[in-house]
Amino acid sequence: MFRDKIRDVMPMTEMLHGVADADLQSLAATIAKLPPPASAEPVDRARSDKARALIEQHRCNFCHKADYSGGENVPRLAGQREDYLVKALRDYKSNARRGYDASMADVLYPLNDAQLLDLAYFLSHQR
Ligand code: HEC
Repeated sequence: MFRDKIRDVMPMTEMLHGVADADLQSLAATIAKLPPPASAEPVDRARSDKARALIEQHRCNFCHKADYSGGENVPRLAGQREDYLVKALRDYKSNARRGYDASMADVLYPLNDAQLLDLAYFLSHQR
């Protein structure tokens, strides 16, 4: 998506300009072999409970898997940086970030910003 400017985000768009499919595949294969990020247990029980309820209701755990490790074109959420997750969620919701399909914009449509913050908090504290 960066290479083809479907997601136009500097410096990624520029760095991947003209890179061949085979090279993208080997980059992806290398990155996929890295160990999952380390993360601490969530300490804020109230926020975690709110996030868990949202996850059940909006089926985040169906597409992203029960352990949030993702699969195929669905990314891992567990242990990602909280500030990154907040930005990703806000950008999908505002349509600043396009996905391959509209799943995320649809899922986030009814959610408010406080709910996005709780989700990012909880997911960043999963292993
Ligand atoms: C219908 C399947 C589906 C559901 C339900 C779903 N997601 Fe996603 N999610 C995706 C797909 C597919 C992508 C990758 C989209 C793209 O191409 O950018 C994604 C991307 C993301 C990303 C970006 C991660 C990154 O590394 O950039 C976050 C964060 C995320 N989802 C969180 C959630 C949360 C939180 C929920 C529940 C409120 C949820 N998702 C529900 C399919 C889903």
